[in-house]
Amino acid sequence: MELGLKGKVVLVTGSSEGIGRSIALAFAREGCGVVINGRNQKSLDATASELRASGAEIHGVVADVAKAGGPEEVVQQTVARFGAIHVLVNNAGGIGRFGAFADLTDQEWLDVFSLNVMSAVRACRAALPHMQKQKWGRIINISSESGVQPDPFMPHYNASKAALNSLTKSLSKAYGRDGIVVNTVSPAFIRTPLVDEMLDRQAKEKSITIDEAERAFLRDLRPNIVLGRAGRPDETAGICVFLASDQASFITGSNYRVDGGSVASV
Ligand SMILES: NC(=O)c1ccc[n+]([C@@H]2O[C@H](COP(=O)([O-])OP(=O)(O)OC[C@H]3O[C@@H](n4cnc5c(N)ncnc54)[C@H](OP(=O)(O)O)[C@@H]3O)[C@@H](O)[C@H]2O)c1
Repeated sequence: MELGLKGKVVLVTGSSEGIGRSIALAFAREGCGVVINGRNQKSLDATASELRASGAEIHGVVADVAKAGGPEEVVQQTVARFGAIHVLVNNAGGIGRFGAFADLTDQEWLDVFSLNVMSAVRACRAALPHMQKQKWGRIINISSESGVQPDPFMPHYNASKAALNSLTKSLSKAYGRDGIVVNTVSPAFIRTPLVDEMLDRQAKEKSITIDEAERAFLRDLRPNIVLGRAGRPDETAGICVFLASDQASFITGSNYRVDGGSVASV
């Protein structure tokens, strides 16, 4: 299938590891110019060299997108390097402290919202004028199953992803006439460094292996994952490439689940 993405310029925030890295690699394989981002120069450089093996032009930008000025800097460097920004994937995100509502402080709420919501708000604000000028743009917000099916723990994370889902819908309505489509992709339980860290902690607490911790998590907390396993980062990348492509030109304001069946509603 011709996706029409060759030569497009793609920015993926939080992409030195995990889901973001897989998304960046998938766009690189489509012949896009790709900007990757993270806070750690060393791991960003290592990922950039790996992605260059695809033959694509890759540019790494070290910036903390949870801080004001960070997302703007990454967008500005994308345009400076490639002369345009066609696709923005707001992927950077995190769960903060794995806590119950009563234990979480104001600062912990604000930190999670800064990373999961304000990073996308700021990146969109910086990228949209460029997309409007070229009358073409794709924004993909990486949310979570937790945005529509919250757990009793991590209420700050759950609420931040619900806010991101709402931002997607608002922007899709505000910018559709400019040729810009905006969609959400919502993964669940993908084995990335973020999830491995959580499983590792649980494995140590219970004196079990990390694979046993994965099985316990699926059994106790994610019985609806009907595929009975965790997802792989690359399983989230394909839908992002599709949503950025010409094949998806009439899709906007939608939320695509990549969750092995986890969200229980129809
Ligand atoms: N994994 C899952 O099961 C799952 C499920 C649902 C939703 N999600 C969502 O998917 C997205 C990616 O998750 P993941 O599991 O791939 O995460 P991850 O394994 O923790 O990877 C996060 C990436 O983002 C970068 N990053 C983190 N904070 C950053 C910041 N403040 N500024 C710039 N870069 C930053 C990290 O590099 P540095 O540390 O060097 O900055 C790394 O490259 C997140 O939005 C997450 O909420 C994940």
